[in-house]
Amino acid sequence: MWQNNFLILLTLLLINQVCSDYLSTRNEILRAEKSMAVGGSITLTNKEKEANEILLRVKQKELQGVQEDIAKFPPARHFFVMKKDVEKSKLFSILQKLPKGGSLHTHLTASVSLDYVFTSIVSRENLHGCVINGRLKVKFFEKGKTNNLCKWEPIKDLRKKQATSDAWIKSQISLIHEGNPSNAYNSAHNVWNTFINTFATVYDMLAYKPVFQDYLYQALQEFYEDKVFYVEFRVNFPELYELNGTVYGYSEFLQTFSDVVQRFKREHPGFIGAKMIYAPNRALNATQLEQALSTYTTLQKSHPNVLAGFDLVGCEEIGTPLFNFYQQFNKAQNNINFFFHAGETNWYGFDVDKNLIDAVLLGSKRIGHGYALLKHPKVLEMVKQKDIAIELSPISNQVLMLVDDSRNHPATGLIAQGFPIVVCNDDPGFWGAKGLSYDWYMVYMGMASKDAGLEFLKQLALNSLKYSSLPENEKNQAIRDWNVSWEKFIDDLIKDKAKYQ
Ligand SMILES: *[C@@H]1O[C@H](CO)[C@@H](O)[C@H](O)[C@H]1NC(C)=O
Ligand SMILES: *[C@@H]1O[C@H](CO)[C@@H](O)[C@H](O)[C@H]1NC(C)=O
Ligand SMILES: *[C@@H]1O[C@H](CO)[C@@H](O)[C@H](O)[C@H]1NC(C)=O
Ligand SMILES: [Zn+2]
Repeated sequence: MWQNNFLILLTLLLINQVCSDYLSTRNEILRAEKSMAVGGSITLTNKEKEANEILLRVKQKELQGVQEDIAKFPPARHFFVMKKDVEKSKLFSILQKLPKGGSLHTHLTASVSLDYVFTSIVSRENLHGCVINGRLKVKFFEKGKTNNLCKWEPIKDLRKKQATSDAWIKSQISLIHEGNPSNAYNSAHNVWNTFINTFATVYDMLAYKPVFQDYLYQALQEFYEDKVFYVEFRVNFPELYELNGTVYGYSEFLQTFSDVVQRFKREHPGFIGAKMIYAPNRALNATQLEQALSTYTTLQKSHPNVLAGFDLVGCEEIGTPLFNFYQQFNKAQNNINFFFHAGETNWYGFDVDKNLIDAVLLGSKRIGHGYALLKHPKVLEMVKQKDIAIELSPISNQVLMLVDDSRNHPATGLIAQGFPIVVCNDDPGFWGAKGLSYDWYMVYMGMASKDAGLEFLKQLALNSLKYSSLPENEKNQAIRDWNVSWEKFIDDLIKDKAKYQ
């Protein structure tokens, strides 16, 4: 009998030992994974820890019940239908106040909110419109001085007609579709077509010099109000024009850009600045590319503080692969900073997917989207080793139909492994967003771990300055300035604790 009891005791002891080994190993894995993820190397100060508790409480509260009812979880739904739910979120209001650093991937002519474009630009004197093949064209002309391209009418007359009502005009200058978005666009190809047409429609309207100046100023204003103090715009240089028919060259455009940014800085203390990445359309041939590279090199010499680098834009899936031009790019890579869009696709092994390999080999300083990166372990090794940042634009990837539910976004895997992610907004004006907080919300709520706290957000903000094109001394100053806003944000969060109970 005593032998039996002894055996039972021994077994229990062993189980206990095995269990505690099991539990400590399990805890070790959890700890290790947390330290590997984005933000894992950051140690919070005591004050930050206090603020973190408040933040996490708000976050957990908003995550309560979503597992039973996914309709309550905005990142799992289409941006067009969940935007108003995001705006009601307390967590979103915290993110709006959080100093986010910079936005490093924003296309200038799609950067301003639809509200502003419609109420303050479409309504202007001298804007004329006409309809060609079912699409709106708009351009500024002096009274009676229209051209013969189509049957121009003052925009205010068009707006009175049912076929070209305000709702229709909005549908021509954005991708927004009321109701179920899947009824509007049935494929990525289809939504890209509308996307490209939208850029074409707004181009002539925004290239009118006085409008361009206001538009750029408003873009900076919307970023500034959203606590984003530095911007790098992708720009396919427009030829600015005046009502009297004067058309300006690139140099005048760069000067205009620079003047507006300088004026904005003077009027907004704390704003760091804005630069451009020259990004012509990828539907070009070798001769045109060589021309573009040489134009860039010349302009970069005369405007070194304005021009940060070179990229190609347009639908990657249908555009020329980078590989077709690797010799031209390779020759230029010592003199030009590249910031290539690459791997914005779901097609594994196709030319568009292989753009990732060329982007890295050609010395790209950051990668635009890098949506397909997880399928390229070798490229990922190089990304890590060369410390190349990945420009993540979650709402763009959803609206342009790479992914429906942000939880399925492949960058979740990159976040888990601590890759240098920078959150960007790509084309916020075209899908009804404004500033950068909506994208931060999608990343924080839909793509990071439930346990990710302030350390994660702090890392994202620091990344957006660290991987910017600011020269080293300006970058360090920008980080110091950011730090002051950050400390204030932490203090305010603690002060407003009661509001977040
Ligand atoms: C056209 O208008 C611009 C801006 O008002 C002005 O600076 C320029 O001198 C004008 N050019 C001609 C040819 O009238
Ligand atoms: C490149 O495109 C331009 C404009 O369409 C054309 O004039 C030129 O002949 C093309 N060059 C080559 C080498 O195909
Ligand atoms: C921010 O400022 C605090 C002191 O106020 C300092 O301890 C910390 O190292 C600074 N962090 C950065 C990223 O500059
Ligand atoms: Zn882009």
